[in-house]
Formats: sequence, C-alpha cells, structure tokens
Amino acid sequence: MSTSSHTSPPDRYAVIGNPIAHSKSPDIHARFAAQTAQHLVYERLLAPLDGFAATVAEFVRAGGKGMNVTVPFKLEAHALAQQLTARAQAAGAVNTLLFAQGTIIGDNTDGVGLVNDIVHNAGVSVAGKSVLLLGAGGAARGVIMPLLEQKPARLVLANRTLSKAHELAQQFAAQGHIEVMAFDALAESFDIVINATAASLSSEVPPISPAVFTTQTLAYDMMYGAQPTSFLQFAASHGAQTRDGLGMLVEQAAESFYLWLNVRPQTAQVFAALRAQLQ
Ligand code: ATR
Repeated sequence: MSTSSHTSPPDRYAVIGNPIAHSKSPDIHARFAAQTAQHLVYERLLAPLDGFAATVAEFVRAGGKGMNVTVPFKLEAHALAQQLTARAQAAGAVNTLLFAQGTIIGDNTDGVGLVNDIVHNAGVSVAGKSVLLLGAGGAARGVIMPLLEQKPARLVLANRTLSKAHELAQQFAAQGHIEVMAFDALAESFDIVINATAASLSSEVPPISPAVFTTQTLAYDMMYGAQPTSFLQFAASHGAQTRDGLGMLVEQAAESFYLWLNVRPQTAQVFAALRAQLQ
C-alpha cells in the first residue's frame, strides 16, 4: 500500500526551449512546489527549432497544465496562444502558457518579475523615480509596461540603434511617455539604470557615460552569473548600488506559478539557494 497521500498522478508542467539543459526553472519550481505542498512535476522540454508548436501540442495531449517558454520560442508562443494577457500583448512575447478548458492562454511574467525584484527585494520604489532603460530588443520591450505602471517620474529609453528605441517608444505611446535618447547624449544621473541589452553576454558594456550613476543609483542587469556582469562592474566602479537578474528569474517564476496554481510562493529562500549554487 502506498503511503502517499496523493491518489492522482501529479500535474505536469515544463519549461520549453532550445537549448534547455541549463535552465534553472525546474529547480525553482520544484522548490516552490515543495514549499507550498503542490502535487506536480516540472520537466525540461527540448523542442526542435522547427518543432515548437508540435512539442507543445504533444505536451497538452499528454495532460500538461502549463509551460514556461524560453529562448528562442517566446515569439512563437505569443503567436500560438489563443488568448493573451494585456502584459503579454504589450511585451509582444510569451514566457508562460496555461492550458485550461481547451484553450492556450499566453502570459508574460518577465516584466512584473523585474519590478517585483526591484521594489520588494531590493526595496527600491520605482514610483516617482527617474529610470533609464538600456536596450530596445525583446528584453526591454517585455518590461516597459510593468515599469510604466509603477508611475516613474521619467522613463528614458536608450539604445545603440536609435531608430529601434524610437519605434519601441512609439508602440507604448498610449501607455505613457517614454523619452528616447542616444547613448552619447546621456549626461545626467538616474535613480535606476536597467541594462536590457545583450552586451553582458559578450562581456561588453553599453557605451554610456558614468555620469548616469550616483551612489544613490540602483544599477540593474537582467543578466546574472557567478561574477558581476561587466555592466555591474562598471556601475559599481562609479559608486552605484548593483543587482543582477537572478532575482528577476525567481520572481518571474513565482508569478508563473501563481498564474497556474493560484498560490503565491515565497521567493527569498529560493533566491538564496540559487545564489549559493552559482558560487
Ligand atoms: P533580447 O531579446 O535579449 O532583447 P535582441 O532583441 O536581439 O535580444 O536585442 C538585443 C539588444 O541588445 C538590442 O537593444 C541591441 O542593440 P541594437 O538594437 O543596437 O542591436 C543590444 N546590444 C547587443 N549587444 C550590444 C552591445 N555590445 N552594446 C550595446 N548594446 C548591445
């Protein structure tokens, strides 16, 4: 006789991407499930580059309840979803799928993950602050609406290719005012500087003046690693407070977990465990 209190098989969740072996999401969600006593399994799904929709369909047929979506499938997930949340529409990308009542719902929890990490974990409010967002690709787009919802005093968008920053600001014109500036025009300090460029992937730093930093500035890099990113090293050398994207990773996962299960996990211990693993 089984000693388990569960009589039904666990609900199935997964993270889908290509590559996927490195993903920390299974570890994060297993910790959330244990903490909140949810009966679920959370797998890694490697989809062929030309087989995203087929892999999702197979997972749904097998009874899957939800998925996280990572590189390079966030745009395909946006196209596949039959219903989109407002924040997924604004982001133009989907990192969370919910399979319920025969429909596929697409959400995007990246932006709220960033905002929750800044506001609740770093303890820095965005309301009334000056915010500089570096980058105009998918990562930047995904966080603009949640940042605007916090009512910053200013949101300045700067990008290497200026036309892309103008296009992005235009797309959000109905949600709030975004000032566009070239990197070499940045000459004043900001309360919060967020690096949403891919520069840290190649150990580069966006070519901005250190004048954007004061000792009161929070410099945030959406990337993370065992060592501070080159952007965070640059910011710290000019006196800024720094924070990497590990907290955003944990917070976006918590928001997905909440969407699927209507249970909000605690993130602090999970964050600490992941940080320890990185060292
Ligand atoms: P993601 O989805 O990660 O945002 P992306 O859509 O390819 O990826 O966008 C990458 C972003 O990083 C862009 O803003 C890019 O600037 P450009 O639009 O000028 O290409 C920015 N980026 C990449 N490498 C950079 C570097 N070395 N310095 C500054 N910006 C960089």
